[in-house]
Amino acid sequence: MILPILAYGHPLLRKECQLIEQNSDDLQNLISNMWETMYNAEGVGLAAPQVGVNKKIFIIDANPLFSEDHEISDFEKLNSKKVFINPEITLINNDECSFNEGCLSIPDIRAEIKRPNTIRVNYYDENFNDNSKVFEGLLARVILHENDHINGVLFTDKISSFKRKIIEKKLDKIKKGKIETDYKMSFL
Ligand code: NI
Repeated sequence: MILPILAYGHPLLRKECQLIEQNSDDLQNLISNMWETMYNAEGVGLAAPQVGVNKKIFIIDANPLFSEDHEISDFEKLNSKKVFINPEITLINNDECSFNEGCLSIPDIRAEIKRPNTIRVNYYDENFNDNSKVFEGLLARVILHENDHINGVLFTDKISSFKRKIIEKKLDKIKKGKIETDYKMSFL
């Protein structure tokens, strides 16, 4: 089932999410609805609070981000599409990189955002198996963006105050629902 995506300004996007204690039919339903919702909106990541669920889970499929001249590694082949439950992230080093980010909850706004390039993620997968993996580059970026969502943080929080002034009006329009998208959104 395709779920409406909460728009910027919705208070549920600002809440710290709760740990998921166990696997359940509800959880599996949520995961399947999240995949459907993300692909319908042509996103590369979606976090539960974006569909109004206050739980620590997000999904990613970063494949559309790889450019044609990028040779996809074996690791990327296996790990670009994933479910992360109760993730915990640690930095591997202080390397950062910049990338033009967007967000399904904040349509039509993009900005260069600096983020760490290499991270370790401890998480449960969709079968509640314990995992610990190192991700880098675009995969790390998408994971960090989605992980921010489950902590109530949005990428626009990381924009310089100068650039924020420029997008403030656009953000205000999204808040008021004065925006058209190809997917269903939910405004407060
Ligand atoms: Ni987002």
